[in-house]
Amino acid sequence: MSVDRPRPLVAGNWKMNGLRSSAKVLSEIHAGYTPGLKAKVDLLVCPPSTLLHVFALASVGSRVAVGGQDCHAKELGAHTGDISAEMLADAGATYVIVGHSERRQFHGEKDADVCAKAVSAHRAGLTAIVCIGETRQEREAGKTLNVVRKQLRGSIPVDSNPQNLVVAYEPVWAIGTGLTPTAADVAEVHALIRDELRRLVGKAEAPKVRILYGGSVKPSNAAELMAVENVNGALVGGASLGAADFLAIAGAYLG
Ligand code: PGA
Repeated sequence: MSVDRPRPLVAGNWKMNGLRSSAKVLSEIHAGYTPGLKAKVDLLVCPPSTLLHVFALASVGSRVAVGGQDCHAKELGAHTGDISAEMLADAGATYVIVGHSERRQFHGEKDADVCAKAVSAHRAGLTAIVCIGETRQEREAGKTLNVVRKQLRGSIPVDSNPQNLVVAYEPVWAIGTGLTPTAADVAEVHALIRDELRRLVGKAEAPKVRILYGGSVKPSNAAELMAVENVNGALVGGASLGAADFLAIAGAYLG
């Protein structure tokens, strides 16, 4: 293992799921985040923003981080329904997901929008989890590497470094479908991302940036996916909604 290999991160993206009663799941995560797990892997929960502050308060002292799922590029202003990175930080978030495929697909976000959101995350002192990934059509047309390269170049701000940037590779066709790429396909894309990061953040810093895999990660496939070269953790949707599965995925790092 390289000395530069970053500490893994397992992040739960709750999407539009969770009510105040879901605090129970968070306490189960705290309870199951044993010293053995803490020694090996960082945990992050990204609940809907209505729960962010209460989750952040409940997580003080637990080493479970909380994060937002999206933010506006501006700090404040006339943007009804939007939330700024500063507001997320004020609520206790330390991370924010930007450019998730559901934002790109259903809210028309382009790479430049995602980049502006990542800039705003950095402005607010948050770590941006920048999501990229190809659609099924793009994969079938053999365009995966080109698509991922283009998204990466367009979505990552110039001031990025291993502390304020996490990249999440999430093939769109693998999200919520139960389908996953082969370990070889994941390795190929993550190697390309690492290579691109050398240009984007510099040769010395690139090995330290965490690159997560996301898309139908579950306890049964986590060990195989997390063992792939250049995979430094997971971004988990459906399987992060229950503490047992989420912790079992993180448990892949207990080896
Ligand atoms: P999934 O979602 O784990 O439910 O496939 C992953 C994601 O969208 O981040």
